[in-house]
Amino acid sequence: MEITRVRLRFLTHPHVCGIILPIHLCQKLQLRPRQKITVMLGKKEVVATVLQDRRNPDSSIVKVTSLLRSELGIPHGGLINLKREGEVLRLGPAIGIVTTGIRRDPRQPIGQRTSFFHKLLLAQEGKGVFYFIFSPHDVDWHNHTVSAWFLRKNSKGSFVWRRLTTAMPDVVYDRIPSRSAEKHEAVQEFKYKLASYPHLPVFNQGFFNKWSVHQLLYPNPDVNEHIPETYTAPSLQTVRNLLRKYPIVYLKPKNGSLGYGIVKVVRQPGKGYEASYHTGNGNVKRHFTKLASLYQHVFRTRRIRNYLAQQGIPLMTFHGRPFDFRVHLHKNQLNEWVVSCTAAKVAGSGSVTTHVRTGGTVIPGDELLSHLFGRQKAIITERIKQASIRLATAIEQAKGTDLGELGLDMGIDTRGHVWMFEANSKPGRSIFKHARLKHADQESRRLLVDYSCYLANF
Ligand SMILES: Nc1ncnc2c1ncn2[C@@H]1O[C@H](COP(=O)(O)OP(=O)(O)O)[C@@H](O)[C@H]1O
Ligand SMILES: [Mg+2]
Repeated sequence: MEITRVRLRFLTHPHVCGIILPIHLCQKLQLRPRQKITVMLGKKEVVATVLQDRRNPDSSIVKVTSLLRSELGIPHGGLINLKREGEVLRLGPAIGIVTTGIRRDPRQPIGQRTSFFHKLLLAQEGKGVFYFIFSPHDVDWHNHTVSAWFLRKNSKGSFVWRRLTTAMPDVVYDRIPSRSAEKHEAVQEFKYKLASYPHLPVFNQGFFNKWSVHQLLYPNPDVNEHIPETYTAPSLQTVRNLLRKYPIVYLKPKNGSLGYGIVKVVRQPGKGYEASYHTGNGNVKRHFTKLASLYQHVFRTRRIRNYLAQQGIPLMTFHGRPFDFRVHLHKNQLNEWVVSCTAAKVAGSGSVTTHVRTGGTVIPGDELLSHLFGRQKAIITERIKQASIRLATAIEQAKGTDLGELGLDMGIDTRGHVWMFEANSKPGRSIFKHARLKHADQESRRLLVDYSCYLANF
């Protein structure tokens, strides 16, 4: 049935567990005065009495008695959606973001990541949702409630963090910050319980491993053309074979990020091989006459079985520097993939990756493409967009879990072919620091709410 957006208010009433609706809403939701109806918020449900508000027949205000409020754990009033589903009246959606490192300090409840979550929650403006942050420790599995942090406006109009107890949400967005945090016993146990909780969708669970993503996508004919040839735990012979086929080979840690541990190997005809990588002291280049010595040097301090060897892509350049793209994708309220942002990342001088950490710069994707291609930029833009959406669809299908957001590292080679280097399930937001990508930043956060509404069936 149709969803109705209402303004929720509370009524102090010690005895009645009731919901008071204007007549037109009673009619629309097919509710009779004094009838009993199950009211649901997130995973909590309570039987309440329907009452008609005769004083404000046309308003969109719905009142809930204090008794119903406390039994359901309704966190606050204001804009919210109401939906009749069979014999149940649903209030919501309730969207919980789960993370670790939560504290009791209302100034900085998520420590240094507080401003990140502050911005995420601001996207609820005008959407009519209950949106909050909680940690695996905050769940009361027995009572189906969570103690969570909400961002609310105080009487002066500024946003403040409030800790409130509410119902277990309709949907959970996984923002467990790192692979190491994921390994904690409390997090493991939480994930296990969540998985066995009936009808509770969780999206963007866990982290991707470069090798498992490769194995999922390489055999798929829809996307195979975008996936570089890759081997796990490469032997010297594997690297040698790859270098016979391609002049460049990348050695990358399977679980790496931010370019840590990446080595670029370049074959120099008749002159041996060159290995480039980044160290704490900057970008390093070393020449080797024999591939065996290069291999030995690289894997003296790195574990082969944690590594991949990958066909190197000769990236297009901008002012002589290679560049690639971070394509940020989201699912919208219709469960369709959309690109929220395409940012070009231009490598720093001498760097083997395009990360800002190693001197790279971020430029809005279409600005860089206009510089390079003028009017033809539309063709390339569309090619990157279509490939990204096809890849996101393939990843989600192959994983078999709900994904609402993805950050893809995409490159174009000197012939204009599109490649994918990496898929991130918890993409960073550093590209959005760019002044001309602020709009995309907001759009991206709003899409997270929209997709949550879809998963919550609102
Ligand atoms: N096969 C490759 N060919 C060319 N450049 C690559 C290749 N693999 C990685 N790169 C470059 O290195 C960057 C980082 O690689 P990526 O696989 O995304 O690892 P990380 O997890 O460290 O970000 C890419 O954005 C790209 O610029
Ligand atoms: Mg990357």
